[in-house]
Amino acid sequence: MKERIFIGVAWPYASGPLHLGHVAGAYLPADIFARYHRTKGNEVLMVSGSDQHGTPITLAAEQRGITPAALADGNHKIFLNSWEKLGISFDLFTTTETANHAAVSQDIFLTLRKKGFIYEDTVLQAYCPNCQRFLPDRYIEGVCPVCKATGARGDQCEACGKPLNANELLQTHCRICGKAPVFKESKHYFLKLSALQDKLAEWVKAQTHWRPSVLNTTQRYLNEGLRDRAITRDIEWGIPVPVEGYENKRLYVWFEAVIGYLSAAKEWAQNKGDAEAWQPFWKKDGGAKSYYFIGKDNIPFHTLIWPGMLMGYDETLNLPFNVPANEFLTIEAKKVSTSRHWAIWLPDYLSRYDADPLRYVLSINMPETGDTDFSWREFVRRNNDELVATYGNLVNRVLTFVYKNFNGAVPEPKEMDARGRELEHMASTTLTDVDKLLAECHFKQAAINIMALAHAVNRYLDEKSPWKAIKEDRQGAADSLYVAMSIITQLKTLFYPFLPFSSQKVHEYLGFKGKVEDCGWQRQLLPPGQPMVQPKALFTKLDDKVIEDETQKLGQEYQA
Ligand code: MF3
Ligand code: ZN
Repeated sequence: MKERIFIGVAWPYASGPLHLGHVAGAYLPADIFARYHRTKGNEVLMVSGSDQHGTPITLAAEQRGITPAALADGNHKIFLNSWEKLGISFDLFTTTETANHAAVSQDIFLTLRKKGFIYEDTVLQAYCPNCQRFLPDRYIEGVCPVCKATGARGDQCEACGKPLNANELLQTHCRICGKAPVFKESKHYFLKLSALQDKLAEWVKAQTHWRPSVLNTTQRYLNEGLRDRAITRDIEWGIPVPVEGYENKRLYVWFEAVIGYLSAAKEWAQNKGDAEAWQPFWKKDGGAKSYYFIGKDNIPFHTLIWPGMLMGYDETLNLPFNVPANEFLTIEAKKVSTSRHWAIWLPDYLSRYDADPLRYVLSINMPETGDTDFSWREFVRRNNDELVATYGNLVNRVLTFVYKNFNGAVPEPKEMDARGRELEHMASTTLTDVDKLLAECHFKQAAINIMALAHAVNRYLDEKSPWKAIKEDRQGAADSLYVAMSIITQLKTLFYPFLPFSSQKVHEYLGFKGKVEDCGWQRQLLPPGQPMVQPKALFTKLDDKVIEDETQKLGQEYQA
């Protein structure tokens, strides 16, 4: 039975470039999942886009003396380029600055207001009389009331980690002009999450298939009791609030960013000339399952706030089926820090190295159940020992030997011995196991199992040694080479979600036409006699010097 899979991936802030933590946290697992389902013949819609609003973008733009729109657009182009090079196969990667997204967001806002899930209230808001503007939390600095550190921000003290309200700070000043702000009354809209508490709690209780860490975090918020949240702000950059008297306010970035999952599906449908095509992926009667790939810091927005908004907006729309949030990736055993330049920037990586080695290393060490570490030493080791020496060498030695000794075509086998059958058996078990693991979003274990199969074929070849056997027993050599090649045929399918570029090459070397994805998630028959394409090395060995060079760059500012 054909399945329908909607994949939403966290919308990255267009305030700066992406780093490897983003890739391991959300984009790579989402892409593996999408490619797997497409190969299975399922209908997939994978969307995301640049999160172009919000204070981090306004701040970064102000620092550079450009408009938020120009900054966000520039970064959006860099994102698109990175997806292309890394092979992240979005059906649509749009932005939150489209007219469509504004319209869908305003519709959801107005509908929730009409249904009583959004109400108006007055709050005290920091205002700078000198700059004559309301100050977002991050524009206010002061002394932390808890640890007394200076330079604490209006939303959090970085020194002690305590989340704060701006009015709790001592000796506050405006980050733009340095003068003291006053607190003024301001009207805002609030999302009535308290009214959705029971319904959400009941729904979450049924999600026993979620990852334990996702369930625990969600349950903790539910136990504390959901609080209503302000969903408008006194800012200029963002989506206008479609209400009279709110001309100087905008929708809060988080309220509208999550709406992107729905608005992007609608935009995708319009782009393909069938404006209703989003419905089977979103309407409950379409039977689709929706998955949201995000980092752990975004959990409550996707397991409580967005589902709550959907419940209030339109009962006929799908709630998330799963939110397989990943944990964090540390770099050389230290937490990623943009301000300390402790990060590996994706465009920088992609300017020097191939996509597949990174995809492999981040998959086999994916932070699914806990934080994991990326180190350049491990990267080089896994590239050289696992990709080059195990998988790449297997493909290369078999295909090159066959190409040379069997007239550039797949050999004709005659018999399969017990060892061959044993290996065949392992191959079909691996296919079934990996199928289940991928369906359940266990990407790391899936990658480990596939590599184990490649290992097993190498051992088999070491025993059979067709390179020597060919001299006395040409048919015997052909038999064992055919076993190896037919398992390589399966490996290129199994590895395809992880290593799309290399898999496509192996597919072509073996003499297959078209795309790997179109051949299905199955044991594909390798036709004896099929003409091959002259193989080349799949992966490149990396020098140990890479470790030194790259490690040295950490902590230094990145210039694109
Ligand atoms: N821009 C947010 C971040 O990078 C993520 C937004 S995910 C969304 O943390 F769903 F809200 F868009
Ligand atoms: Zn000021």
